[in-house]
Amino acid sequence: MAQWIQEEVGGDLFLIQTKEPYSANYDETVKRGEDENRRNIRPALSSHVENMQGYNVIFLGYPVWAYDIPMALYTFLEEYDLSGKTIIPFCTSGATSISRTIETIKRLEPKAKIMEGITVNHNKALGSKNAVIAWLKRIGIVK
Ligand SMILES: Cc1cc2nc3c(=O)[nH]c(=O)nc-3n(C[C@H](O)[C@H](O)[C@H](O)COP(=O)(O)O)c2cc1C
Repeated sequence: MAQWIQEEVGGDLFLIQTKEPYSANYDETVKRGEDENRRNIRPALSSHVENMQGYNVIFLGYPVWAYDIPMALYTFLEEYDLSGKTIIPFCTSGATSISRTIETIKRLEPKAKIMEGITVNHNKALGSKNAVIAWLKRIGIVK
């Protein structure tokens, strides 16, 4: 999804990565992710944006984990002050919509402008290019 957005609007791609990678085993990752959420943990990140002041618009993509953003995104959003910038969220999920995650983003970045996001079902993500482009048009990012 991030690559399709980049094809449409340009900009730089940045991958939020944790120092301790998540297991490729789904059940293990569910366990760890839900445990981190329950314990309000901030996983350490191994990737950092050098010049955040150089960016005004940030597309923020993530999977919904435990009805929320993954805790690594708490780490990310607490690392940077995005006041005055525009955040455009996009997510995949099993069923949960993006709305509650947007409340978290607003709480962590109260002075950012947060635009309408998109939720894509995880099983349909690979085929969601047209839906992503339609959303970019709907929110006025792409003509
Ligand atoms: C720790 C964890 C928690 C999750 N919690 C939710 C949830 O609350 N709601 C939901 O719809 N999907 C949930 N999921 C499913 C993810 O959103 C889904 O795995 C993600 O969008 C990526 O899709 P994929 O697993 O098919 O690659 C969870 C997955 C993990 C690993």
